[in-house]
Amino acid sequence: MKKLFSSILLSLLIAVHLLRADEGMWIPMLLDQFNIDIMHREGFRLTAEDIYSINKASMKDAVVIFGGGCTAELISPDGLLITNHHCGYRSIQRHSTLEHDYLTHGFWAMSRKEELPNPGLTVTFLKRMEDVTERILTKVNDNMTGEERARAVREESRKIEQETSKRTGLKAVVKPFYMGNQYFLLVQKVYRDVRLVGAPPSAIGKFGGDTDNWMWPRHTGDFSLFRIYAGKENEPAAYAEDNQPYHPDYFFPISLKGVHPGDFTMIIGYPGSTYEYVPSYHLKILMQDIYPKLIDLRTKKLNIINAGMSADPKIRIQYAAKYAGLSNSWKRWKGEIRGLNKLNAIQRKQDYEYRFLQWTHEDPQRKEKYGSLLAEYRKLYPEYSRYLLASDFINEVFFRYGAEAIHLAHYFTSLVEMTEQQADKDKIDKEVEVLKSRCESFFRDYNKPVDEKLFVALVNMYETNMPREFYPLSLLSWQGKTGKYMQRVYGKTMFVDSAKVFGYLDGFTAAAVKKLKKDPAYALAADVQRLYDDKIGPELQRLTAEKNRLDRLYMAAQLEFNKGKHLYPDANFTMRVTYGQVRGYEPRDAVYYRFQTTLNGVIEKDNPAIYDYHVPEKLKTLFREKDFGPYGENDRMPVCFIATNHTTGGNSGSPVIDANGYLVGVNFDRAWEGVMSDLMFNPDQCRNISLDIRYALFLIDKYAGAGYLLKEMKLIR
Ligand code: ARG
Ligand code: ASP
Repeated sequence: MKKLFSSILLSLLIAVHLLRADEGMWIPMLLDQFNIDIMHREGFRLTAEDIYSINKASMKDAVVIFGGGCTAELISPDGLLITNHHCGYRSIQRHSTLEHDYLTHGFWAMSRKEELPNPGLTVTFLKRMEDVTERILTKVNDNMTGEERARAVREESRKIEQETSKRTGLKAVVKPFYMGNQYFLLVQKVYRDVRLVGAPPSAIGKFGGDTDNWMWPRHTGDFSLFRIYAGKENEPAAYAEDNQPYHPDYFFPISLKGVHPGDFTMIIGYPGSTYEYVPSYHLKILMQDIYPKLIDLRTKKLNIINAGMSADPKIRIQYAAKYAGLSNSWKRWKGEIRGLNKLNAIQRKQDYEYRFLQWTHEDPQRKEKYGSLLAEYRKLYPEYSRYLLASDFINEVFFRYGAEAIHLAHYFTSLVEMTEQQADKDKIDKEVEVLKSRCESFFRDYNKPVDEKLFVALVNMYETNMPREFYPLSLLSWQGKTGKYMQRVYGKTMFVDSAKVFGYLDGFTAAAVKKLKKDPAYALAADVQRLYDDKIGPELQRLTAEKNRLDRLYMAAQLEFNKGKHLYPDANFTMRVTYGQVRGYEPRDAVYYRFQTTLNGVIEKDNPAIYDYHVPEKLKTLFREKDFGPYGENDRMPVCFIATNHTTGGNSGSPVIDANGYLVGVNFDRAWEGVMSDLMFNPDQCRNISLDIRYALFLIDKYAGAGYLLKEMKLIR
């Protein structure tokens, strides 16, 4: 009996251990220290050197930062990249007009000549990384305040970056890990000529839209194709027609064999940020103060924009990307609150903190070093929350797709400053040009009635939710007559009218600054800036520095407290490796979600009455005729699958790799029940969602008739 009991216990322990192993985003350079044995046990057949090496071509050479916040991977020797449709969305949208609506109909270059350039879009390779902790830490000491320490770290980091860039001609970045207990130098190479090769119509690439977003079962064909171009000798160059396709050191072979439950999968990519080691107070402010308010604000915005988009196809194109962006975090916040509640996350953290506190009291030195941390956090968080919320409100109301005319006006503050400080004419002319190009892209996607509605609704919310001390001056002076004030702003400002703004910029002279300062939208933008500079920014900066100091100590303490457990550093938009298994899950009592979706589910969801569930005719025909080519499996066309890989925002577009190192999918999302994984991972419920690579190939070949692209790939059958 006892023996039986202990063997049950043992297998339980192993099971828990195996499950736990899936949590974590690991530093590629350090895989052989701890992870590679677990990875081998889980089925991986290659070596740590095959993933990251500075001596030979390795997988890291085929994974790039795509734009500013996604991942993409190379799938051909000629620089062909695959990422998500939602990652290429901006680029696809920018090429779209009512006449050439690539968002709606998709885009496929039928030869290299037809590939479309995307000014401003870059991809970034990691050449190597290096631990520079020692060098940074010689510049700091324990007597420094948070702000002094931050400055010292910043200065030394800059120095390292500059030295490295000068030596190598490459971009260099120093980033903190483990909340500033460790530092790494990342050496990167940036390519600037990246062209659009293909994108399915939104009815496929964004199928299910924001309704299915963050959800499983999912049927989104979330991919797009780009190509990297290089100048002489395969080196980075600005766009030029005669640039040549880039030849990478490595690219991923693609497996047509698909995935099955229990299969090993690995993801290499750029997870943005996670907050796994924060104290319970952090969860509390997010769940009780910050998220609920932000959700309310965004609900307002989304309703207003949605009304505009439904009424007018032009507005639908103009606001599509803005809407998707706003909706994405709005929905995630909701899911996070729900998931954290279900996990009893605050209580869990509190229990952990209780044990931690006991541990600090076991040893006088420890007590001295770490004993007061939690009490300091408790004191800090309410104040921090107050300023954080104010700053979030300002951003949401006046910037980041809030009242956009105010946001645009705000960009003119630097022109005013330059003129008033009597800067060189050259400098001013340059600034005018910068503003012109900003205005051009602004007015392309601008609709005044929608914006005015946003302005009115948001300013009203600002007034009800913010204390008076955080009112911008103009709002204070019009108190009681806000409605009238708002009418005046949008009635009088030039920032809602493209012709007026361009007229102003074309004839700009120093004397014209006076007129600008009288513009009511400009005046409000300047007031908001002043409010931020005087009453919010400095305080928030001080509190953040203080919080950073506590975070660093608390992280160091937790590393000691959890000795032997191998804590992974929070995500910080550096390359990470995560691994797990293909597996379904039980979202609710008695309900089990299978690991895979197929085209059958797309057809089931088909509903011409709902925009997000339009299935294109051609896809229906291919389905009816079961014309899946070599990409289907048992008469079905696989679409997406889920696995236990620990991922987050930024991992979109990341390669999903099988035990042999072949590409089997493209990561694009997480399942609803597990989106709190940025704050607390639950191995039971957290699943990443990937596009089955066979669906992408099927679409390229059978749907788009761009099968010529498959010829440059290396397919493993
Ligand atoms: N939730 C995914 C991620 O965070 C996909 C977002 C894009 N899709 C959308 N419907 N907004 O990026
Ligand atoms: N959809 C996210 C992204 O764009 C991925 C995630 O949050 O899981 O990076």
